Amino acid sequence: MAKVRQSWGSRLGIIMAVAGSAVGLGNFLRFPVQAASNGGGAFMIPYFVSLLLLGIPLMWIEWALGRYGGGFEHGTAPGIFHTMLEKNRFIKYFGVIGIFGPLVIFTYYTYIESWTLGYSVFSVLGSYKGIEDQATMQNFLGAYQGLEKNGFFSSIAPAYFFFLITFSANIIVIYYGIRGGIEKLCKVAMPLLFILGLIIMVRVLTLGTPNALRPGWSISNGMGFLWNPDFSVLAQPKVWLAAAGQMFFTLSVGIGVILTYASYLKKGDDVVLSGLSAVSANEFIEVILGGSIIIPAAFVFFGPVGIKEVAGSGAFNLSFVTMPIIFQKIMFGTFFGAVWFLLLFVAGITSSVSLAQPAIAFLEDEFNIGREKAVKIFGVVAFICCQPAILLLGKGVVNELDFWGGTFCLVLFATIETILFTWVFGMDKAWDEIHHGADLRIPRIYRFIMKYVTPSFLLIILFSWILKDGIPVILMRGVSAADKPYVLGTRIFLIILFVTISIFVKIAWKNRKKKR
Ligand code: PFF
Repeated sequence: MAKVRQSWGSRLGIIMAVAGSAVGLGNFLRFPVQAASNGGGAFMIPYFVSLLLLGIPLMWIEWALGRYGGGFEHGTAPGIFHTMLEKNRFIKYFGVIGIFGPLVIFTYYTYIESWTLGYSVFSVLGSYKGIEDQATMQNFLGAYQGLEKNGFFSSIAPAYFFFLITFSANIIVIYYGIRGGIEKLCKVAMPLLFILGLIIMVRVLTLGTPNALRPGWSISNGMGFLWNPDFSVLAQPKVWLAAAGQMFFTLSVGIGVILTYASYLKKGDDVVLSGLSAVSANEFIEVILGGSIIIPAAFVFFGPVGIKEVAGSGAFNLSFVTMPIIFQKIMFGTFFGAVWFLLLFVAGITSSVSLAQPAIAFLEDEFNIGREKAVKIFGVVAFICCQPAILLLGKGVVNELDFWGGTFCLVLFATIETILFTWVFGMDKAWDEIHHGADLRIPRIYRFIMKYVTPSFLLIILFSWILKDGIPVILMRGVSAADKPYVLGTRIFLIILFVTISIFVKIAWKNRKKKR
């Protein structure tokens, strides 16, 4: 029984959906912390180089590949890779990463997203009111996450409650499908997110010098702290790796979700201008809004010495510990606190639904399962897979999931798809494919970039990562003895998940052969 594949309702719809996937917690939390700790304004040099040589080419490649695969009724990487290189029996298994990676990120991303929902409710209810120092606010967060017992929360139940709401919200959106769920959500959520972001940014930029005794703790010095360049860092490979890693993560490329979204395009739909529009929206929100909120705000209240400690303690602390303290020090803080966490929640949910879609598309396309049933199966499996991140948080599990799902897989998958598209499929065909129905011609220099520069850059990153991070991570250097069993357990879990998806790919192809 042939089903009609789903499709986007409008061009604006898919641009909003891709921008929604790209704009997420990474823009508001990860980016400013990465920039502040990697040379400030100087970080923007490797960042923009990565944008031009990796981010934009990968975005075009994924849109074109996804639309191409969609034409063969394949919305995920195993099928798409297979159609490009039919003679190779193994290529489809490389595509497994394009379902596995998003699912792995989904398992911890939704939990973190649920904290933002919890904290927006706490802001309104005044639950953290009166806590004015970092240590106590940290205890509040620790108790919420079930990591400490200290009187704030007696169990993980509230966190679990907000997780259930967040998880269900995600499932409901994908249940309604591409057009009725994801597109509708993003068309409302993206403008809303933009307005909420502007409100917070304007509030932060008008903070002035709230502490009259410390005139140096001003918003302009706060912006200076983040943006004054330290060019000496550019000689460090680590800074370049951080910039490239941020680029993948923020644009949601190199993992399979854009492939899936683009597979619902029609053959004649433009990908060049649309892809570029989604990138531009993400970059504007990341650099302008993301770069003007948490770091400058924290500087104004904690000063040049305090900010170093705060920024060094990581993106989550800045968001869930430092920001709630700041909101108590400003007028209408309850309102701004609620807006801040709601902003993060809206940014988060438009990203997490995109992480769910590849698995759904795989079941629909390769097993001919109806959407409702596919979403139900996904719901059960994903719910189980989310449990380690929730129940074993603080035991190194999330770091491990993030390393494999959110870092390693991205670079590996991006390398494979780029080589497949520009070398195996061939640059001439690839160029024609990208320009089919295009409203804009890509400068010819990009033929050279996509064929030579992007893959070389990716291979360099891949190998330096394996050497620099991969080997120490595999050997669990820096993991405490107490956490080792959990980290090992996470790895076994990931291997089982990967093998299971591979087996499903095998079964799907067997069934297809039989049908022929
Ligand atoms: N781009 C999202 C962010 O910046 O938060 C995170 C993300 C979503 C990464 C979807 C990867 C992905 F496939």
